[in-house]
Amino acid sequence: MARQLSRSDNLIHQFDSVLRTLVPGAAQPRRPSPALAQPEGALDDEQRRHVAGLMRINHTGEVCAQALYQGQGLTAKLGDTRERMEEAAAEEVDHLSWCDQRLQELDGRTSYLNPAFYAASFGLGALAGAIGDRISLGFVAATEEQVGHHLEAHLRKLPIDDKRSRAVLEQMRIDEAQHERMALESGGSRFPLPVKWGMRLVSKVMTKSVYRL
Ligand SMILES: [Fe+2]
Ligand SMILES: [Fe+2]
Repeated sequence: MARQLSRSDNLIHQFDSVLRTLVPGAAQPRRPSPALAQPEGALDDEQRRHVAGLMRINHTGEVCAQALYQGQGLTAKLGDTRERMEEAAAEEVDHLSWCDQRLQELDGRTSYLNPAFYAASFGLGALAGAIGDRISLGFVAATEEQVGHHLEAHLRKLPIDDKRSRAVLEQMRIDEAQHERMALESGGSRFPLPVKWGMRLVSKVMTKSVYRL
């Protein structure tokens, strides 16, 4: 009986996590958005649309991060690392919420493709977790490295005046680098270059589609 209850508790918790990730405005950040400390820049309509496209990509990246951590949390052993992974996952909730807030400020919207990316990332996270901690932590490290490259590219593409988006992306870059280090220090494998190239290709498809959709 107790086992059944804990299973259903688990299911409810998972369902709650899915909703918090996919429903705009549902994620509650622990840290206030770094954007709040910056003034709103004078952006014209085209710049606003462009930045909204970039922030939509970053938001979807955070949806994928949530799904990856949640899928992995379900199947991986993790041991002493679990607490650090949960801390990283909580920081990803901050990122998700900050991107969402910034999108709202820009009159933008989150991507229609998020449910599909969530499902795919959850499956990959769960699969990597089931294979073993070295692979699943390696997958986190490789993903965080990839996200870091994206953030650097987006920081270069932002209009100079958009200090609010910049503040968000800069704090995310610091956090993602920390997550990557943590995953490697905890025993994650360094993935070979061809695997990273494959991941880069997948993320290119994601960014191209999400910028518009
Ligand atoms: Fe993140
Ligand atoms: Fe991260």
